Amino acid sequence: MGGSILVTGGCGFIGSNFVQQLLARQPACRVVNLDALTYAGNPNNLAALEGDPRYRFVHGDICDGEGVGRLFGEESIHAVVHFAAESHVDRSIAGPAEFVRTNVSGTFALLEAARRAWAGSGQGRFLHVSTDEVYGSLGETGYFTEKTPYDPRSPYSASKAASDHLARAYHHTYGLPVLVTNCSNNYGPYQFPEKLIPLIFNNALHGRDLPVYGDGKNVRDWLYVEDHCDALLTVLERGVVGETYNIGGNNEKPNIEIVETICGLLDRLAPPLATGAARRSLIRFVKDRPGHDRRYAIDAGKIRDRLAWAPAVTFEEGIEKAVRWYLDHPEWLVGVLDGSYRTYYEAMYGDR
Ligand code: NAD
Ligand code: DAU
Repeated sequence: MGGSILVTGGCGFIGSNFVQQLLARQPACRVVNLDALTYAGNPNNLAALEGDPRYRFVHGDICDGEGVGRLFGEESIHAVVHFAAESHVDRSIAGPAEFVRTNVSGTFALLEAARRAWAGSGQGRFLHVSTDEVYGSLGETGYFTEKTPYDPRSPYSASKAASDHLARAYHHTYGLPVLVTNCSNNYGPYQFPEKLIPLIFNNALHGRDLPVYGDGKNVRDWLYVEDHCDALLTVLERGVVGETYNIGGNNEKPNIEIVETICGLLDRLAPPLATGAARRSLIRFVKDRPGHDRRYAIDAGKIRDRLAWAPAVTFEEGIEKAVRWYLDHPEWLVGVLDGSYRTYYEAMYGDR
């Protein structure tokens, strides 16, 4: 796949993993990374690409339609992979406005720019990266398929659902070559430590309380981030325009099990706590997230059967790789956590 690919949000967690994987696998490819560098965007994630003629970083906002339009004029963009978003559910509960601005208006501005740039050319592929949270919450059984009706229940998932609808409408109405993916929970290198796995890692490493919302039995379906990026490349290359693909790793786990696994890995791989206590003694069951979805589980049969994609990393391998990556890159966590950083939980309820 030659030409320039516009990646939005390439300095975030999944975006920076994706840009690295794309350039490693397709050396002839050129990437233009448009990122506003919010609290979640860290240009150091891609520092190794500085000076590489295949890579251009543009500091800009996807909501700036004129700026995005200029970028399409300057670069010969054959494909868009759209990651840029406000991504954290707890933040959307505390302040939903930014989620509507970026996720809805920003996606709209990007779709418009692509429509104008590619009009009548028969060119382009617009991969809209979305989430399984648009489908709502499952009971004890069942899976999300591509046909599951949308039922978003947080401001974050509602804003992502709106953006999915806009992306599909642009395909239906204007023939824009849109592909949509809905993926389950990712984990791995470069994830901001407001999300469960790096937050628990950081607190457990330093002997701080480990906040588990509610009864700890909410279930998420975990996928190693490199597997998600591999699936996105598969959809970008071979997906059928106008189609939606669910992506997941078939790794359902209750939150408490994730937290206990990280504690066990750190007890084995990191220096012991000063108290000598096992890290699981730091677990605290705290007030639940408002509207907390109970269970997510993805049926990834369509992408498996039609595009021959399957995840390569088991949860046991992936979680140890992730913990080792964070242990090996202490400077990364320090760098993203400035003095003003407080977890959602601390900000809303104090330390306990
Ligand atoms: P992230 O929060 O780590 O990164 C978001 C990036 O977008 C940051 O680099 C940020 O600076 C940039 N950004 C935010 N607002 C912007 C704007 N207005 N203009 C330009 N750039 C802007 O997010 P993530 O976890 O990497 O998620 C990436 C995408 O994947 C999101 O669309 C998210 O909904 C989706 N997704 C995430 C997961 C997950 O588990 N993290 C799972 C499924 C889907
Ligand atoms: O399902 C895909 C989604 O996964 C993505 O679309 C989102 O961008 C991503 O943030 C993620 O959303 P979650 O809300 O599932 O992820 P989070 O890491 O915030 O929480 C995972 C689970 O852990 C959830 O049930 C809430 C719980 N939790 C979270 C935190 C931060 C805790 O129990 N304690 C915590 O401190």
